[in-house]
Amino acid sequence: MAYAERLARDGYDLVLVARRRERLNELAVRLSRDKGIQADVLCADLTNPQDLSKVEARAGSDEALTLLINNAGFAGYQPFVSIDPKVIEDLISVHIRAVARLSRAALPGMVRRGSGAVINVSSLLAISAMLPPNPLPSRATYAGAKAFILAFTQALAGELTGTRVHVQVCLPGLVSTEFHVMHGIDTSKLPPAMTAEDVVTASLSALAREEVVCIPALANPVLFGEVTDAQIKLFRNAVMHPVLAERYAKQ
Ligand SMILES: NC(=O)c1ccc[n+]([C@@H]2O[C@H](COP(=O)([O-])OP(=O)(O)OC[C@H]3O[C@@H](n4cnc5c(N)ncnc54)[C@H](OP(=O)(O)O)[C@@H]3O)[C@@H](O)[C@H]2O)c1
Repeated sequence: MAYAERLARDGYDLVLVARRRERLNELAVRLSRDKGIQADVLCADLTNPQDLSKVEARAGSDEALTLLINNAGFAGYQPFVSIDPKVIEDLISVHIRAVARLSRAALPGMVRRGSGAVINVSSLLAISAMLPPNPLPSRATYAGAKAFILAFTQALAGELTGTRVHVQVCLPGLVSTEFHVMHGIDTSKLPPAMTAEDVVTASLSALAREEVVCIPALANPVLFGEVTDAQIKLFRNAVMHPVLAERYAKQ
């Protein structure tokens, strides 16, 4: 909702996508009235294949879509050995399938027009995999799906070099929204959270700066550069020397 509020304030016409129709209608009416923009409602459950196709058709339609924001998400935190397989499916549908399919629908037109952008909302949990659960939640599927969004967007940025179309992956930490409440988590026990408005300010500012990875609370961006450099070094080291490492050769 914070992206919609901010973009309406900046004069963007909007297509609002989510499941709760009433809520979307109220938001569309309020933003159109107060900000003088056009806000269409596209009610869709992104775990539903027909609904996803409907949103995909809109994202890929001829009208000049300037910005696609893949922001929908839910936590689904549960220990993996007892998680309901339907929750796994839904996490993959919303955080992976929808993000990839909607990007695929929107990008050809943007590339043709030589302008446009996609923002994919991941999470700091994307880079948390090596930390045990507690105090962080049990999150194998959620963190894995958010890591997909990170790798997907970084690789996509490389493919789009020279097109004047930009992609961004945003990695917020804790944000004060309905996210944890919807999952039944007692938010009074959580550390302080950033406001959704600050996340959006960071994300849009990063987009203007053409930063591919936006970490709203990271004061020193050099830190993330060091992580990326270390990954590239490791990748090159292993890929350039495809010889069985000595420690594995010894049985
Ligand atoms: N809050 C945090 O601490 C935090 C931290 C890092 C990253 N994130 C990420 O930030 C993004 C936004 O989350 P939020 O914090 O704003 O949570 P939120 O307040 O719960 O909002 C989630 C939004 O996604 C929509 N949505 C959920 N499931 C959907 C589905 N199956 N189909 C269509 N729309 C769906 C919801 O609308 P309906 O329910 O009406 O469908 C709602 O508009 C998510 O991707 C989340 O993973 C959140």
